[in-house]
Amino acid sequence: MEYSIPQPAFYIFKCQQSAPPGMPKPSCVSQASVESQQLFMHMAQSLMQKGIVSTVQPIQTGCMNRCQLGPIMLVEPGHTMYVNLNKEKIDRIIEEHIIGGNVVEEYVIPNEMWGDAIDPKTLLQQ
Ligand code: FES
Repeated sequence: MEYSIPQPAFYIFKCQQSAPPGMPKPSCVSQASVESQQLFMHMAQSLMQKGIVSTVQPIQTGCMNRCQLGPIMLVEPGHTMYVNLNKEKIDRIIEEHIIGGNVVEEYVIPNEMWGDAIDPKTLLQQ
């Protein structure tokens, strides 16, 4: 039997790191914020309701070291890091970026916290 699984158009990596109670460091999922605990499910349900989850894959991931700007998520391809998320922002990112093809610039991480990637080759010992 012929069987194939096409590659996804997008992966959305949502940081699901939760700091233990009393930990001073911020985290993307907070005991103090019910909404922060619901964001991954909200995104996944929204993709399902729109019927696009077969080509847009939501992934739960750990800390991506931008905790002070959380909740965050990374959209690939494109290396687009979105920060300070809530449900409304996620809805807009799905509509405008994932479906519409236009990055929602106002939710993108500031350049000084992201900038251009460092090519690993430049770090190699000679
Ligand atoms: S806890 Fe989410 S980026 Fe660190």
